[in-house]
Amino acid sequence: MRVCRIFLRTTPPRECVLRRQQPLQELTIVINGGIETLDEASGHLEHVDGVMLGRAAYQNPFILADVDSWIFGENSTPPSREEALSKLIPYAERHIQNGGRLSNITKHILGIYHGQPRGRAFRRLLSERVTDPSATVDVLRDAIALAEHGLGREDQSDAA
Ligand SMILES: Cc1cc2nc3c(=O)[nH]c(=O)nc-3n(C[C@H](O)[C@H](O)[C@H](O)COP(=O)(O)O)c2cc1C
Repeated sequence: MRVCRIFLRTTPPRECVLRRQQPLQELTIVINGGIETLDEASGHLEHVDGVMLGRAAYQNPFILADVDSWIFGENSTPPSREEALSKLIPYAERHIQNGGRLSNITKHILGIYHGQPRGRAFRRLLSERVTDPSATVDVLRDAIALAEHGLGREDQSDAA
């Protein structure tokens, strides 16, 4: 299978997305660049085989919670942030047991409470406490508790 990945600096107008020409039929075409929502991604999927999300997913990983139902049509309820993060805990524990650092994992989820109350406090607690090389998953548990229930003094913070 040949895969063609198209890099764009900004989202193209719909009418500019590749029209399938005969020689392109055999290519798998994946569009990439400036796509910020699943709604946009759905629109592109009417014209191409795949869509990549880079910065949007990194800045707000929770955007991916709806992918299974919205894009792949699965009849499943998206997990809450707390549920998604709880599933990460055993993975993080194994990573630390194998010599990794908690920060290797948490740096990818700093934005998961983006736009939520205490989202900034979550990010700050994680950012600060994972600098300790011996940080355990308790740091992640504390950050989840803070974001979900407002425990601790970081509760004063506003949304991320
Ligand atoms: C955190 C992050 C990691 C990335 N890692 C890679 C990579 O390993 N290889 C690659 O070809 N592109 C990588 N990219 C680039 C993206 O695939 C994409 O080309 C770029 O981010 C533009 O798309 P966007 O507007 O959706 O971010 C990365 C982007 C981000 C934000």
